[in-house]
Amino acid sequence: MKRVSLTQYLVEEQRKNNSIPAELRLLIEVVARACKTISHAVGKGALGDVLGTANTENIQGEVQKKLDIISNEILLEANEWGGHLAAMASEEMESIHPIPNRYPKGEYMLLFDPLDGSSNIDVNVSIGTIFSVLKAPEGMGEPSEADFMQPGSEQVAAGYAVYGPQTMLVLTTGNGVNCFTLDREMGSWVLTQRNMQIPETTKEFAINMSNSRHWYPPVTRYVDEMLAGSTGPRGKDFNMRWVASMVADVHRILSRGGVFMYPADTRDTAMPGKLRLMYEANPMAMIVEQAGGAATDGKQRILDIVPHKLHQRVPVFLGSKAEVDVVTGYHTQG
Ligand code: AHG
Ligand code: MN
Ligand code: MN
Repeated sequence: MKRVSLTQYLVEEQRKNNSIPAELRLLIEVVARACKTISHAVGKGALGDVLGTANTENIQGEVQKKLDIISNEILLEANEWGGHLAAMASEEMESIHPIPNRYPKGEYMLLFDPLDGSSNIDVNVSIGTIFSVLKAPEGMGEPSEADFMQPGSEQVAAGYAVYGPQTMLVLTTGNGVNCFTLDREMGSWVLTQRNMQIPETTKEFAINMSNSRHWYPPVTRYVDEMLAGSTGPRGKDFNMRWVASMVADVHRILSRGGVFMYPADTRDTAMPGKLRLMYEANPMAMIVEQAGGAATDGKQRILDIVPHKLHQRVPVFLGSKAEVDVVTGYHTQG
């Protein structure tokens, strides 16, 4: 079988669809290279002294793991000097990171969750990196947080790397979703799945059930009806999976369907859900929609939400379209 590398894929895509200008291609290749470096660090585990906590807190008040910080540094360093970016933003940094003046500035802005699924690092379960690419606004001067406040529908590319039994990169530039597997011996990304499609229907759901006593009624109703199985209103049995790494749960859904939920709940109304809009929900929503699935916050399409702050949280319902429609319907029709 002829192997297609990430570079070849990007070049051919540009020729075919004119959708990946040279600067964007460089950006994607640099991010992919950084993910390769992160994958290497992840794979070393205790041998590389990368496990455990760093004894610091990020802006979300979460204790940072060593790998959260290492991965953030890897992505920052890799992306600073290439001239393809105006600014970056990360889960692990309170404010945006403009490209230092010693480097040329480009027309894109990159957002990332450097290490997703931190609670799984120390137990050797799949984790990942999520990223989102926006265009810098026309005539932008010194970059500010306001320049990032664009709805997810404006993303020009989004992707994630999953560090599991295999390291994979899943990418969209708005023209379908493709999956690359890291050839560890050669150090190259090889196209292994073209045009990923999420089955429209599913019998599998993903939610952290331990929060069920805090859920709002539409989520309780939806999950109860699934749990009732073939003799309940849904008339079929459902299975459940929860990895607690969004990348791993989304990757499973892209591979065989499913519905993923991290709803808002009654615990803290100032904190609508756990996942962050700009570097978790938006890139995943773009990928899922590009693969024929759907992604809402229970009421509206995630990609239509106009952000008001960088680290804003959002309820997330995504995956197989038929199921996302059911749970969204329960929120909107009462
Ligand atoms: P992060 O490690 O970047 O903070 O994100 C973790 C997220 C997401 O990956 C996952 O779906 C969810 O948190 C798991 O949350 P629970 O621990 O509440 O199940
Ligand atoms: Mn995350
Ligand atoms: Mn993270």
